[in-house]
Amino acid sequence: MSDGNAGKRLRSSGSYGKLDRDGFIHRSWMKSQGLPDDVFDGRPVIGICNTWSEITPCNAGLREIAEHVKRGVWEAGGLPLEFPAISLGETQMRPTAMLFRNLLAMDVEESIRGNPIDGVVLLGGCDKTTPGQMMGAASVDLPTIVVSSGPMLNGKFRGKDIGSGTDVWKFSEAVRAGEMSLPDFMSAESGMSRSPGTCMTMGTASTMASIVEAMGMSLPYNATIPAVDARRKAMSHETGRAVVRMVLEGRTMSQVVTRASFENALRVHAAIGGSTNAVVHLLALAGRLGVELKLEDFDVLSRNVPLLVDLQPSGRFLMEDLHYAGGLPAVMKAMETFLDPTALTVTGATIGAQYENAEVWNAEVIRPLDAPVKADSGIWVLRGNLAPGGAVMKPSAASPHLLSHRGKAVVFESIEDFRARIDTPDLDVDETSILVLKGCGPKGYPGMPEVGNMPLPTKLLEKGVKDMVRISDARMSGTAFGAVILHVSPEANAGGPLAIVQNGDEIVFDGPSRALNLQISDAEMEARLAVWNANRPPPVATRGYAKLYIDHVLQADQGCDLDFLVGSSGSVVTRESH
Ligand code: FES
Repeated sequence: MSDGNAGKRLRSSGSYGKLDRDGFIHRSWMKSQGLPDDVFDGRPVIGICNTWSEITPCNAGLREIAEHVKRGVWEAGGLPLEFPAISLGETQMRPTAMLFRNLLAMDVEESIRGNPIDGVVLLGGCDKTTPGQMMGAASVDLPTIVVSSGPMLNGKFRGKDIGSGTDVWKFSEAVRAGEMSLPDFMSAESGMSRSPGTCMTMGTASTMASIVEAMGMSLPYNATIPAVDARRKAMSHETGRAVVRMVLEGRTMSQVVTRASFENALRVHAAIGGSTNAVVHLLALAGRLGVELKLEDFDVLSRNVPLLVDLQPSGRFLMEDLHYAGGLPAVMKAMETFLDPTALTVTGATIGAQYENAEVWNAEVIRPLDAPVKADSGIWVLRGNLAPGGAVMKPSAASPHLLSHRGKAVVFESIEDFRARIDTPDLDVDETSILVLKGCGPKGYPGMPEVGNMPLPTKLLEKGVKDMVRISDARMSGTAFGAVILHVSPEANAGGPLAIVQNGDEIVFDGPSRALNLQISDAEMEARLAVWNANRPPPVATRGYAKLYIDHVLQADQGCDLDFLVGSSGSVVTRESH
């Protein structure tokens, strides 16, 4: 068996390069798929980790994409081997796909480490698939490149563009306010999702794909080329070539995803009006790689970065428009004074080289720094006696008059309590009230679902109220909007102060000073917490993965990873299977 790679000893040669019983076993069973002898000649073996699934519609195009990656791998002299990973469909899974992000990460980590592969291409897209795959791959640290599903085509309804998620929330509130009929609402359904691909607003999927590209973990334009555009297939083909080069040049994921690339990503996140969900995903990813990243970094690093991209939910346009306007390289070029151009990408070029020649083709969609969509963007990290571990808010998606507010709490002890009472005529609530929802954190739901953008009471919608301050330990969809304070940490079910908020308590939220406080004395707080601790609710699951999750999940300010998954175990496995 020849060494086809100039003397480089690849990881896979520990299985396929051995002229003994073990090598026989590794090769022979692979040959059952029709592979000829010479593909085991020491060439790079590229795993293609695919989260394709028919019940993850956002990832439904990835079967075809995998074939294009394989073309590039073969062409560059590698051996492509596709394998599945658990797929997480945001709109399909109960109680929330977030519960299973860490399970996907475990699946991906062990599949990569356990198999004789030298490099990996991650095929994902729907909200939790990108971070789950990145986290798993980070803990092995092979040469790794991401190809995302790409956004679906712009939604269309009665002559107008409509956005995934964002217009669902708007339309459903319009129905409740009596401004839209139910038949009209139902008829928007088919026009919203017209092709495979991820939500085409700047929701979590588009945010994470943009972050992947900004970190240099994909080829340029990965975030924005529409899922069904032929250029996504061409980019996938080129990715196949690039990952083989990455293996031969020995460039691993941890050399690309560094503190510098996180800083670039956080600033790009602000300029694009990215989802709050990126906070938990990036904190978890940093934990896997041992990169120092704190919750406050999201606020500090994004300060002064204005909102440049006019996309829903913070603005008007959709991902197709962003691609035609120049894509992420044009956004990065427009904000280059905030970026570190020397950060490395998967190709070995710097990120600066990736955007230096980019141009903006539509200045309505990608604004210049001196004429932004909004001056306030990024993530606000709030602290105070109501959120000692922190809470987050997306100011670009909130009504400006609610960026500081004092109001009386209307408290819901659980999502069921909220659903049962929010529309009762005698609910003591007005537009100055603050809606408080408990029991929706990582341990409490479990899995920290996207229910933080609580629908407003119908009686206030009918009066024309469009936004209210809402506080919870939940997340919210990246497609959602409003003066919504999320990720309150510690969560109620972990004994955080959120657990002891009572109806009528006054809450003060001061955006500019990033403060969130319950107006009760320290003694009162202590007394209420003592009562709560004496009557702690039982865990919401007692067996299976949900129990493992509840027992080990970290709070939102630490990324909601499982405590024993933080860090890396590398790629070395010394023991054979026979
Ligand atoms: Fe899958 Fe939005 S639901 S990307």
